[in-house]
Amino acid sequence: MNIYTDLKNKIKNKKAVITLVGLGYVGLPIALEFCKKGFKVNGFDLASNRIEKLKKGHSYINDIPSKDIKAALKKGFYPTCDAKVINEADCIIICVPTPLRKIKDPDVSYIVNASRTLRKHMRAGQLVVLESTTYPGTTREIMLPEMEKSRLKLGKDFCLAFSPERIDPGNPKYQFANIPKVVGGFSKQETELVKLLYSSVVNRVIGVSTPESAEVTKLLENTFRIVNIGLINEFANLCDRLGIDVWEVIEAAKSKPFGFMPFYPGPGIGGHCIPADPMYLSWKARRVGFKTKMIDIAASVNRDMPKYTALRAEKILASKGKRIQNANVLIIGVTYKKDVNDLRESPALDLIEALKGKKCKLKYYDPYIPYLDIHGIKGESVELTGAIIKKQDLVIVVTDHSDINYKNIAKNAKLIFDTRNIFENKGIRNKNIIKL
Ligand SMILES: NC(=O)c1ccc[n+]([C@@H]2O[C@H](COP(=O)([O-])OP(=O)(O)OC[C@H]3O[C@@H](n4cnc5c(N)ncnc54)[C@H](O)[C@@H]3O)[C@@H](O)[C@H]2O)c1
Repeated sequence: MNIYTDLKNKIKNKKAVITLVGLGYVGLPIALEFCKKGFKVNGFDLASNRIEKLKKGHSYINDIPSKDIKAALKKGFYPTCDAKVINEADCIIICVPTPLRKIKDPDVSYIVNASRTLRKHMRAGQLVVLESTTYPGTTREIMLPEMEKSRLKLGKDFCLAFSPERIDPGNPKYQFANIPKVVGGFSKQETELVKLLYSSVVNRVIGVSTPESAEVTKLLENTFRIVNIGLINEFANLCDRLGIDVWEVIEAAKSKPFGFMPFYPGPGIGGHCIPADPMYLSWKARRVGFKTKMIDIAASVNRDMPKYTALRAEKILASKGKRIQNANVLIIGVTYKKDVNDLRESPALDLIEALKGKKCKLKYYDPYIPYLDIHGIKGESVELTGAIIKKQDLVIVVTDHSDINYKNIAKNAKLIFDTRNIFENKGIRNKNIIKL
């Protein structure tokens, strides 16, 4: 029996053992989904604190309840720091981080390390899929050569493919199982095999001809977002100067049933995807002598948003005859987007820096972040009581978490700067609310 037939049978019969490498926001939900569908799942992660939590049935991701971890453990889910589980696996899915280096170049060191671990523990007859977002060529140029050092041969002894993860933490409508998956192997047979694997856990799987096509598909999606967010942020700045309500304009434009898709301005972009992924593409583009002008301009507009927000805050206070120096300012929400507990690249952090530079007295409230201790910014979330709100000269809504009592803020705040249009969306209007 060749490797394809063997793996195909194992996947079809749910006899394939799945090992996730990296159990973060991406790897953990995938592990749980395969478990739910009756596969034996192992999870390998270097972070012993995460593994310890999982072993006790505790979740560290806020939209994954601990009861789901406990249910998976009962079904045989085995989280471990021991790389030996790689050898036991039939299918290995790699979900390690791909951040940016300080100079905004790709940091693929986690993929390199995971590939080295893989090489040490792999055996003939395995399928390996990389899910980490990365530039086109990573699977072929980084993973494949490392794996071939094991003397195992692609297509004969092992299969390798790329499938970008599209999960959107905090999104109650679209979760792993109902987000279509794109897969690209080194051959048609490989692509078909990976399609079969993901069809066990995802509603729809789309095959593309190469790993590079799959790699760049993800970068196109996030480049589309960064460019459109950059455009609308610039547009918001212009509308402010023209005295036009940008939110009203977007609502009106949205009524066009074709050719327009709404994007919304905000205090800046954050997370590990939108600010980082397009930089992977522009880095790769430079390697082939191409300049990605759209990405560079959009990134620069978006990067300026926290500073712009701080400047607007200063102007809003000045319009009420109040200097920003020594003003009491309360920031609502510090995570990079609503309803998640993730601070990575959050624009709130840059905004805090910018406001600190203006010497105001800052406090923050975030139900997901009781303590802040990141990049030298330290603090404790205040309680969102009427008394605390009343003390503020300005309340700035930076992250519009769903579980916040906006009516209470509107009732008690002297002045509100709403960078998300959340009050309008909730039908709360008063003259003290100023929108971005
Ligand atoms: N979080 C998202 O919303 C999201 C969405 C789509 C794609 N992605 C991409 O998916 C990838 C993973 O992102 P994430 O958010 O899950 O990251 P994460 O930091 O939450 O999780 C990554 C995990 O990998 C572990 N790890 C690192 N090196 C390892 C190694 N060599 N062996 C075993 N484990 C290792 C880390 O300890 C960590 O637990 C990234 O490329 C990211 O860009 C993320």
